[in-house]
Amino acid sequence: MTIIVPAAYTIELAGGDDVEPWLASLAAQEEDNGVDGVWFSPRGRGDVRPPLTMDTLLAWITRLSRPVSEAGWFRLWLARERASGRVVGHVDLSGGRLRTELHRCELGMGIERAHRGVGLGPALLDTAIAWAREVDALAWIELGVFTANPRARRLYERAGFTVIGGVPDRFRVDGAVIDDVRMALRVG
Ligand SMILES: CC(C)(COP(=O)(O)OP(=O)(O)OC[C@H]1O[C@@H](n2cnc3c(N)ncnc32)[C@H](O)[C@@H]1OP(=O)(O)O)[C@@H](O)C(=O)NCCC(=O)NCCS
Repeated sequence: MTIIVPAAYTIELAGGDDVEPWLASLAAQEEDNGVDGVWFSPRGRGDVRPPLTMDTLLAWITRLSRPVSEAGWFRLWLARERASGRVVGHVDLSGGRLRTELHRCELGMGIERAHRGVGLGPALLDTAIAWAREVDALAWIELGVFTANPRARRLYERAGFTVIGGVPDRFRVDGAVIDDVRMALRVG
């Protein structure tokens, strides 16, 4: 698989020092959740993320280096703007909590508004897929996407994800009823 990263950006696997900038970028992404009627996060306006404690930070760092053979592993790739070095997007994969579900992982991703539509979405997604294909133990990447997020659904469909189910009325965010779609991609 050839991964085309737009020239103005880098995409790299995150380490412990990257957790704080990643969480800051997540908060920036969520600023426009629901703008123009497109919801992508289950967090409403009043759902402020709790302050980052040392325990939480250490928990993320531990998960980043946990082997994929152990429950709770986590891998994160960050897109940075070359000019500023600022984190502007991410993709992550999470292993399950049970040993018996470690052949599956869950994907999450997002890009700050000003950096959407430039090719970062496909580049981040392809990076995570390529990594997962190299891991013998992984057979599936799974994700949840809101029905009313056509851009993300299109991105996943283009990469080969197919719908495997859905949960109507999954979230109620600031008065909006959100239907969730489950999608999956076979990687092994
Ligand atoms: C979803 C997201 C990751 C996509 O990344 P991106 O770099 O903006 O992706 P693209 O611009 O390549 O768009 C993906 C596809 O959707 C299409 N698209 C763009 N806007 C669209 C719209 N309003 N309706 C339908 N399709 C749309 C694009 O044309 C492209 O399809 P194509 O490859 O056939 O041309 C990014 O927009 C984002 O972070 N959004 C907010 C957070 C989010 O939704 N995260 C995912 C949660 S599941």
